[in-house]
Amino acid sequence: EHPLPEPPPYMEYQGILFPANNVKKECLEAMKTFKISDDDVVIVSYPKSGTTWMFEVVHKILGGKKENLSPIVPELWLPGQKEPAYVQLRDSPSPRLMYTHLQPKMAPPGLAAPANKVKAIVVLRNPKDICVSYYHFSQKCDHLKTPDSWEQYCKDFLDGKNLYGDYFDHVLGWWQMKDDPHFLFVKYEDMKKDFRSSVKTIAACLEKELTDEQLSSVMNSCSLESMRKTLAESDTFRKNIVRNGMVGDWKNHFSAEESARFDQKYRERMAGTGLEFDFQ
Ligand code: A3P
Repeated sequence: EHPLPEPPPYMEYQGILFPANNVKKECLEAMKTFKISDDDVVIVSYPKSGTTWMFEVVHKILGGKKENLSPIVPELWLPGQKEPAYVQLRDSPSPRLMYTHLQPKMAPPGLAAPANKVKAIVVLRNPKDICVSYYHFSQKCDHLKTPDSWEQYCKDFLDGKNLYGDYFDHVLGWWQMKDDPHFLFVKYEDMKKDFRSSVKTIAACLEKELTDEQLSSVMNSCSLESMRKTLAESDTFRKNIVRNGMVGDWKNHFSAEESARFDQKYRERMAGTGLEFDFQ
């Protein structure tokens, strides 16, 4: 008898799908002239790559207090906010810390401009675990459509019909900046394997020297369990971010056939790029 709730709307912009309740066309248009300053720090990622984790690490390294930890994503306009994020950001003083899920062709042009000194940290993660993470997140998050089935979700992801566009286009688009000294590429799997070294590398990129005590403090407050606690009390946007934080959870979801199709596409797209991921 009850009508089904309306699924949240998606919109397409330049061939890429966005969650229309949070990303408006005018915000994407505004990115073309959105100014990035030399002293800004921008985290870049495909969704579910460990963006929030990186954000917390960078925020802590920069000595940020909990009170001013409001992740700012220039392309968003969240429901209930009277202004889009880029307007708030435009008016806030540098250095600003922000993150974006946009591909280079849509991101503010100053970000990927070789002459720019902005620090860009790109977080990368293997596509199988991203697909699983996004599938679960989509079931929990109000602004995302609940997937019809895992099989369909996995197929669409591999066909590039996912929010924020094709995973490979995204990752390989940013990977073109790999030799730019203002870009740091960090893999989720490496952060899991050796968090201490990753934090040190990130701190060095930010030109911050951490004492052993500071290093331990960053590591403690950015552990999976600390973040689970902190984010549980956070806004609806972020409270479902921390799930199980594993490398290789894809094995609990992929059939042998799905895995083989993924592997084939992965080999085709990654061939000759020098980019490789750990899957376990
Ligand atoms: P899973 O869903 O596989 O658990 P994003 O912030 O880009 O949306 O990424 C979310 C993913 O990062 C989730 O992956 C989440 O569990 C994981 N994550 C968040 N904080 C983490 C942490 N401190 N350590 C390890 N993984 C973390």
